[in-house]
Amino acid sequence: EKSGYEHFMFKEIFEQPQSIKNCMQCRLDTERALVTFDELEDYKTEIINARRIIIVSCGTSWHAGLIGEYFIEKYGELSVEVEYASEFRYRSPIINRGDIVLAISQSGETADTLAATELAKAEGALVLCICNVVGASIPRASHATMYTNAGIEIGVASTKAFSSQVTVLALLSLYIGQIKEKIQPQTAAGLLTELSKLPSVIRKTLQCADTMQFIATELHNFYNCLFLGRGVAFPVALEGALKLKEISYIHAEGYPAAEMKHGPIALIDDKMPVIFIAANNDSYEKIINNIQEVKARKGMVIAIVAEDDTEIKKMADFIVEVPQVNDLMMPIISTIPLQLLAYYSALLRNCDVDQPRNLAKSVTVE
Ligand code: M6R
Repeated sequence: EKSGYEHFMFKEIFEQPQSIKNCMQCRLDTERALVTFDELEDYKTEIINARRIIIVSCGTSWHAGLIGEYFIEKYGELSVEVEYASEFRYRSPIINRGDIVLAISQSGETADTLAATELAKAEGALVLCICNVVGASIPRASHATMYTNAGIEIGVASTKAFSSQVTVLALLSLYIGQIKEKIQPQTAAGLLTELSKLPSVIRKTLQCADTMQFIATELHNFYNCLFLGRGVAFPVALEGALKLKEISYIHAEGYPAAEMKHGPIALIDDKMPVIFIAANNDSYEKIINNIQEVKARKGMVIAIVAEDDTEIKKMADFIVEVPQVNDLMMPIISTIPLQLLAYYSALLRNCDVDQPRNLAKSVTVE
């Protein structure tokens, strides 16, 4: 049911305040400043004693995993590896005592992720999963499942499922930090109060839709596009590029901004727009240098910045302001404009937004 919306993708983008609310409900207890995961109760000791988490997933779910790596290493003080399920399953992966394998899948049916899950279980690992579809194959093959509760997602391009996966990972990182007693109660209280505002901050962020529609009128004429970000904005760059390529068929690549000078800079000229994800402040000066390098080569710069930004605004051709948030929320807040940019660019190119060519909603064959 599109409930009056023209496309499922658009509807699902705008459902994000509600889907995130559903995802956090029951898990986020701001009064006691606690994160709870009832589904992990039986595995608490194993999680406390874990030496490493190996995340296995594909596509957008793999990007969520990369974001989770930043969160879990920082707040859970636990080492994380993120693997493409398809590579993991055919390598001879080494699974040691104390390794947890975490599968991430919207559908719970992706063939490679399911095979990786089964392999990890056979090797004796504790297998957890993050999934949106209750009772799907991957949850059935796992010891415990954290459901994203985003509601059914129909558009082939994953939007609300992605943001709820990232939300579960943010909560999970704090949960691990709490049960390992690595986070000061006051720090946790502050972070959880902020996180509880996520649905309303997303609502505010969605107001950038008109700006993104306007930027798409420029962008949709190009054949190539580069997405750059540093730190946790790097996986956001990958996600922005995947959204754009899969529904608008514009060739797009995501890179860590620092990698630009190791190759991609050779591509930059007036035909290569560059989208900077620069809403995080920790590497502000460095991002400014990267923007100058692009401008010097006549590249068109589109920048996603926090609303208090002063410098990038003076340099970029197009600016998208998003609310100022902490690092656990920034990846979601920065992805929303990129979802909309892909959507409007695809429309202008007369592409089938909900059913892009050659793609299926769940990839149940290799
Ligand atoms: O259902 P899954 O999360 O396992 O699906 C993984 C990918 O096939 C999926 O994320 C794909 O990349 C999407 N079309 C991205 O929008």
